[in-house]
This record gives sequence, structure tokens and C-alpha cells, in this order.
Amino acid sequence: MLKLDEVSKTYGNKKEKAVDNVSFHVHPGEIFGFVGPNGAGKTTTIKMIVSLLTPNNGKIIINGIDNQEDIQEAKKQFSYVPDNPELFEKIKGIEYLKFMADVYDVPVAERQQRTEKFLDVFEIKEAINDPIGSYSHGMKQKLALVGALIHDPQLFVLDEPMVGLDPKASFELKKIMREHCDRGRSVFFSTHVLDVAEKICDRIAIIKKGKIIEVGTMAEIREKAGSQESLENIFLELTE
Ligand SMILES: Nc1ncnc2c1ncn2[C@@H]1O[C@H](COP(=O)(O)OP(=O)(O)OP(=O)(O)O)[C@@H](O)[C@H]1O
Ligand SMILES: [Mg+2]
Repeated sequence: MLKLDEVSKTYGNKKEKAVDNVSFHVHPGEIFGFVGPNGAGKTTTIKMIVSLLTPNNGKIIINGIDNQEDIQEAKKQFSYVPDNPELFEKIKGIEYLKFMADVYDVPVAERQQRTEKFLDVFEIKEAINDPIGSYSHGMKQKLALVGALIHDPQLFVLDEPMVGLDPKASFELKKIMREHCDRGRSVFFSTHVLDVAEKICDRIAIIKKGKIIEVGTMAEIREKAGSQESLENIFLELTE
């Protein structure tokens, strides 16, 4: 579903690579967690996946499409919610959702059904006719999630999605992620919440100073670390 092959990125004239020769594979049906200390290169990697940054080296294949060869087709395969979604403040929530559905050519019946379902789940139905500028931070984030789910993407890419969500919304999002993958689609997300990553991810990659230092299921990561500890403890040991 998502394949990174020896991907590197250096910002400007910096000596150190922000992302250094990163390769991994996210399979269909998989929730894949991306963890690492601040500044490790998670957001940079995500921005290359969603074509906001171009790698200096390497290839990124999304659902069989090379995102540097056919950017438009690659973009149809995923949706992306950044770590701090910035939405048009002056339009209403419902207008934003219509815009997203139009961009992705979502048939009317499907957009209505999904809008209805996700607005309900995230409890923002009542605010949907108000301008986005009047929303709280969490409400904006929920609206961005609904907008990203409206075209039922093959790959759902999220940068630190739990930050700013209340416990109920966070719970619902985890449920949506699992349901998404149960239908053969995939989720790729970064997080600092390691107990969540440990619980919900099928596989996890740990990045440190731009390099992948571990990738696998929790069982595989434990086995390689020679430890039965939590992801948090293994992470702290590996990233010290
Ligand atoms: N626009 C930029 N220009 C120059 N350097 C940058 C830029 N964005 C990020 N970096 C650098 O690239 C490295 C990786 O940053 P990145 O934002 O990818 O980390 P991250 O893993 O997402 O961190 P966090 O957990 O804090 O979100 C850091 O050293 C950072 O300072
Ligand atoms: Mg980041």
C-alpha cells in the first residue's frame, strides 16, 4: 500500500539529513505507527509521502503509484491530516466538507452518508453551519478528520492525530482507524503516545536522527530488543 525505498531529505544547506535512507513498507489492512523523538524526521517523512516535500533521493510508491512520477494519481490514493490543520476560517464547516467531497469527486449519496456518520461520531453536527473561525482547536481537528474521511481513502495519513482530541474523540478515531484497516485499507500515523501505538498498531517503525532504527510488530520489536518491556521502555532505551 505504501512503500518507501531509500528516501532521504536534507533541508537547504544543512549538513545533517532530516531523513536518512529510510525504507519501509505498509501493507494493506495495516495500522502502521511511526514513532521517534522530537526532530527525528517523522513530519518530514510524512510531508514527502503526501508530496508537500520532494525527497533528495529515493522513491515513494502509494498503492502502486510513484508519487514523483504521477503526483495527481498518487494524491487520489490517500488523505492527510497534518499535525496542526489550518482550515479556511471564513467558510462554514459544511462548505468545507462539500469542497473536499467535490475535490475528490465523491458521489452525492456517499458524501451524505459519510458526512452524516462522521459528524455524529465526532459530535460536531450542531456547529456545521457555523464559520470554521468560530470552532475550538479540537473541533477544527475533528472537521479536518471528517474532511479526510469523506473520500474513503486507500491510505489514511495522520501526523500526531491524538494531540488536541478529547478522550471520546480519540477513542472514536482509534475505532475508525481499525475499521478502515479491516476493509483492507491502511493507516500510517505518527505519535508520541506510545501506549496507544503499542495497543492499536499492527506494526511500528522507530526513527531516530533521520534513520529507522527498528521496524516490526510489537512481538518482533520485543524479540530484537531482548526484552518483554512496554514500547515506552524499549523506545527510551533505543533512543537514549
Ligand atoms: N522547514 C525546515 N527547514 C529546516 N529544517 C527543518 C525544517 N523542518 C524540519 N527541519 C529539521 O528537520 C529535522 C526533522 O524534523 P521533523 O519536523 O521531521 O521532526 P519530527 O520527528 O516530526 O519531530 P516532532 O516530534 O517534534 O514533530 C529536525 O532537525 C528539524 O529541525
Ligand atoms: Mg512532527
